[in-house]
Amino acid sequence: MSDTLGWTSYVDTKAQVEHDRLTLLQEVFDPVTARLLERVGVQPGWQCLEVGAGAGSVARMLAERAGPANVTATDMSTDFLEPLASTGIRVMYHDVTVDEPPGEFDLIHSRFVMEHVTGRDATLRRMASWLKPGGLMVVECGTPVPELSSHPSVRASLTALGEMMSASVGTDPEWARRLPLPLEQAGLVDCVAEAHVVPARGGSPMARWLTATHRLIEEPAVARGVVTAEDLSAAYAAYADPDFVDYTWLTVAALGHRAG
Ligand SMILES: C[S@@+](CC[C@H](N)C(=O)[O-])C[C@H]1O[C@@H](n2cnc3c(N)ncnc32)[C@H](O)[C@@H]1O
Repeated sequence: MSDTLGWTSYVDTKAQVEHDRLTLLQEVFDPVTARLLERVGVQPGWQCLEVGAGAGSVARMLAERAGPANVTATDMSTDFLEPLASTGIRVMYHDVTVDEPPGEFDLIHSRFVMEHVTGRDATLRRMASWLKPGGLMVVECGTPVPELSSHPSVRASLTALGEMMSASVGTDPEWARRLPLPLEQAGLVDCVAEAHVVPARGGSPMARWLTATHRLIEEPAVARGVVTAEDLSAAYAAYADPDFVDYTWLTVAALGHRAG
């Protein structure tokens, strides 16, 4: 049996510090997601599902395009999503890996969720079965790329982040690198993928989000000897220095259709 905890047991998903971290994540990655949704051409009336909606910004973007009554935002932690309900978006407690289908959809989107769930390939097949014929799946996943970094302590810290998330949550930090194959294996057609790298300039929202994300694993990682406190401090110092620019995080977006 796996001794990983899953996201909502490892991360304090009700804490203000997690809300702040998700707000930074949205600030960094929403423009990338918005361009993707623009290209997809989400239409008024489309039934849309946002899986693992977090603090809700992508569900709001979908609501602007499809109409709030046509958007379902699910998560295993819905506290941060409550304000969405008053806009007409359907907010649902839902574990994507096991719970009943939340409906039938023209578009299913998730960002930085699938890499963290258990049985991700089977889960993707479940999600694919919730698409209407011709419906579109859009999966955005992150992968740390320590091999791209110019800074030894940043490399060590990112490697530790991947190892600790894998051991604690059950994350596969490299799953994104196989996209779009998992979409094809889930039975979807016309599958494509593309990757985007946001520069981590010291002091930028990206660098601050990376720092906040490393803090999730800092204590156990140092206690287990996966990374030294000195390397983490040096990485945080780099992420605070406006003269430091690095490329350390790849976001892969994969798209595929259910055959019509
Ligand atoms: C890194 S956060 C990303 C939040 C949001 N998708 C975004 O990009 O702004 C991961 C989210 O997935 C949710 N999550 C994790 N496991 C889940 C599961 N099995 N079913 C539904 N949501 C899950 C978490 O509660 C959290 O809100």
